[in-house]
Amino acid sequence: MSPNVTRRTLLRSIGVAGGTGVMFESMRALGLLASPHALAVPDYRPPRAGDLAATGRHGKRVVILGAGIAGLTTAYELGKAGYRCTILEAKDRIGGRTWTVRAGTTETDLGGHAQTARFARGQYLNAGAARLPQSHLTIDYCRELGVPLEPFLNTNVNALIYNEQTGAPVQQYRTARADMYGYVSELLAKALDQGALDQEVSGEDRDRLLTFLGRFGDIGAKADGFAYTGTSRRGYSVEPGAADQPGEPLGPPPSLTEVLTSAVGRYLPIELEYGQAMTMLQPVGGMDAIPAALYRAVGADKVRLGAEVTTITDGPDGVEVGYRDSRGKETLVGADFCVATLPPHLLAGIPTNLSPGVTAALRFPTVVPVGKIGLEYRRRWWEEDDRIYGGSTFTDLDLSQIWYPSAGFHGGRGVVVGYYHGGPDAVAYGELPPAQRAERAVAQGTKIHGAKYRDELASAFSVAWHRTPFIEGGWVGWPSRTSGEYALLNKPAGRVYFAGDWLSYYIAWQAGAFDSARHAVTGIHQRVLAEG
Ligand code: PHE
Repeated sequence: MSPNVTRRTLLRSIGVAGGTGVMFESMRALGLLASPHALAVPDYRPPRAGDLAATGRHGKRVVILGAGIAGLTTAYELGKAGYRCTILEAKDRIGGRTWTVRAGTTETDLGGHAQTARFARGQYLNAGAARLPQSHLTIDYCRELGVPLEPFLNTNVNALIYNEQTGAPVQQYRTARADMYGYVSELLAKALDQGALDQEVSGEDRDRLLTFLGRFGDIGAKADGFAYTGTSRRGYSVEPGAADQPGEPLGPPPSLTEVLTSAVGRYLPIELEYGQAMTMLQPVGGMDAIPAALYRAVGADKVRLGAEVTTITDGPDGVEVGYRDSRGKETLVGADFCVATLPPHLLAGIPTNLSPGVTAALRFPTVVPVGKIGLEYRRRWWEEDDRIYGGSTFTDLDLSQIWYPSAGFHGGRGVVVGYYHGGPDAVAYGELPPAQRAERAVAQGTKIHGAKYRDELASAFSVAWHRTPFIEGGWVGWPSRTSGEYALLNKPAGRVYFAGDWLSYYIAWQAGAFDSARHAVTGIHQRVLAEG
């Protein structure tokens, strides 16, 4: 760009000449607007049917460990160029942590606790992956695979906040937000007005900021000392109506001290987080529509269920993977390459001839215990009684959060997520037999929603991911991504490649598994094209 053309004048002239569409693209190119993706494979080019035929190198065999998103995507992408893929999946189902529980779903955890879901037809729980940010690669795969999406309502001003430890009453998200933003605005406006921030902002900028704060916090004018006294943003105790019913606003607000003591502010930033901000999406009818679509595209004949990997042997000319099927029969599969997508801590326990450094790196991530419970109710009381349509209630109870269904409004039944938590709470609940998990979750939830939370319950199904066979964790964390382990595993170990959300900067998101699979696929395909 010529140095005497500033970005702003350039953009202005583009905006005039080309309209805002051109302007948006130009801003993106200049790095002024967020790119829709930041991917490990930014200019990913899927392998194509002609790629191998042209070089006479078709028919390379790839054995893929795990039929979760990373494994299925690896087979799906390599399949586009005619690689011969076999997926070994230890569980009796595909999808991994992308798992939708429906009537008849069964699971037995590592402690021997068996569950069968008793949900009514059409009711389901997304026990793992449950929400998709619109910016994620997952959305592109849904488009490519024809998986229909609908809104996932992540935050809801009518949902609740309850902090038991502070003794504050249950209140709506909207009320907590109005009070926090109101008082913050009042304080900042006073400080500005008193000249306390003149070093930082003064003159016209101070006035501009005061104008903003007036609207941001819905506070009084200067003449009223910028006081936050509560407005209809907090909600109504009596809703406005026709004729002579102006409504009764909720209020007055608690004092600043009370608001701060109640600690409601800790839940407000979720709506600002990059990956949690609305609009968010979910597949219509259950998250398992995504693995199901991949599975259809790959072909069921490529996937061996109930195949538990027992050995991985890397060699100069190929890889050999041993597995045990559900009847105990041992089989060896030979291939040109292996893509291992199992959780790292499980891979670390499989006998291999990989270097001690690789095994040590696989043991390096820390495992996060995670639990979730689906509570099916006979009546959608949260909609009928409380006007809560989707979204999340946040609490310091050991439940962490309660989610209301984002779809099926006004249907007879509904499945509420009664807890979704990690760490010590997940460990504590996970140790209980499933019936006691439900009992404890319901007892806690009645503190927020009252007796109907128990009385209208129809059935429950819970998952403790850290106790789930062949998964054994909610997700992992890297104590460091710069101490070598992460980089080592993002490179092949001989003919063995690794993939999974755990090898991405999107841990605990399907997007990480998709992009990590692309990374492995690109590595293999380029190697095959180069070496034959
Ligand atoms: N993707 C999961 C979720 O949205 C886990 C997660 C939570 C990941 C928060 C990052 C941040 O619940």
